[in-house]
Amino acid sequence: MSPTTNRAVNLEDLRRMARRRLPGPIYDLVAGGADDEVTRADNQRAFSDYRLATRAFSKGEGSPDTSVTLFGHRLSWPVMLAPTGAARVLHRDAELAVARAARSRETGYVHGVVSGHPLTQISAVEPDPLWLQLYLSSDRDEVAAVIQQATDCDVRALVVTVDLPVIGNRERDRRHGLTVPMRPTAKTVAQCVAHPRWGFDFLRGNLPQSSPLDGRSSPFSTQRQILRSAYPVRLEDLEFIRANWDGPLLVKGILNGEDCKVAVGAGADGVIVSNHGGRQLDRAPATLDALPAVVRAADERTVVLLDGGIRRGTDVLVALASGADAVLVGRPYLYGLAAGGQAGVERAIDILRMELERAMSLMGLADLDEVDPGCLIPRPRG
Ligand SMILES: Cc1cc2nc3c(=O)[nH]c(=O)nc-3n(C[C@H](O)[C@H](O)[C@H](O)COP(=O)(O)O)c2cc1C
Repeated sequence: MSPTTNRAVNLEDLRRMARRRLPGPIYDLVAGGADDEVTRADNQRAFSDYRLATRAFSKGEGSPDTSVTLFGHRLSWPVMLAPTGAARVLHRDAELAVARAARSRETGYVHGVVSGHPLTQISAVEPDPLWLQLYLSSDRDEVAAVIQQATDCDVRALVVTVDLPVIGNRERDRRHGLTVPMRPTAKTVAQCVAHPRWGFDFLRGNLPQSSPLDGRSSPFSTQRQILRSAYPVRLEDLEFIRANWDGPLLVKGILNGEDCKVAVGAGADGVIVSNHGGRQLDRAPATLDALPAVVRAADERTVVLLDGGIRRGTDVLVALASGADAVLVGRPYLYGLAAGGQAGVERAIDILRMELERAMSLMGLADLDEVDPGCLIPRPRG
């Protein structure tokens, strides 16, 4: 597939390219949220409630320094790729393409356990840093095995997702029959057949070319993984991980100060303010709105990250100025993947990074240490 993605000037262009390339139901699988999708839309909208202060005189020379340090590890910029479980329906190289793009663009990658590719294949690509997101279960042996794998594969941090006690009500998927287990409607099948380029690519990525699937899991076992991921996490589950994992531990899906304190009390080193991209509880707060309370509750040592709705370099700055140490993106790189595989993910990263650097220059910022609440001006409401 040719990297037409270079024609995309912003992330919205990449989304449109993905929309054209994918059958409607597959696009909806990524784009959709829960119920009325209020939270999904709010995530993006919340950023436009702020304006950014400019300083006429910069303290630095040349390009701004976008680096940040998390858990003693330097990242060349404060954006990481969030864990997502849909890559294999978007491009045949799925998470492998994502990990390769992360590596080539010096961007951190949080690989999710719901994935077509085993962790060993991903870690061989050496994204830096590589974190692993997992869902918990009451099966301690299973969780211990994942922790052991993470240790063997030089994973730097574990991310435990806690906002999926049950799978959210994603009505677009239910209408298309793209539920777990899958029962695609006749219309869904027809729409997929009408996209032969996508269909051919999907078959190449998901049919066994060799046995067993070059180490990849079958689409059916991915379905089983998704089913098993729904689990109401208890405090003792978190404490079990803490007792068995020496590296940094983050809890993903925190939306208030109290939960942040509880997670840190159970041994978490960081939290990710996230509502799963608006795919779980609709009417949960936008992550940017939830962030200040979490930042207030966190102590100095606790790393606070945010995801949800980041579509512009300026959004990254608003999140950092509101107290986040770094952010993650989900759909933007998935749209890049759908539009052009690894090259598409790289394009998504390049766009966001160029926007961040340009915005920092325009604001007179030499580095990210200068980003603080003083950079924000609430939008005057008329
Ligand atoms: C298609 C899709 C699949 C996802 N799968 C997972 C997952 O397996 N584990 C997880 O913790 N979060 C998952 N997420 C949530 C993302 O990690 C992240 O919180 C969200 O995408 C951020 O919002 P954004 O898409 O607006 O950037 C998924 C999101 C999408 C869109």
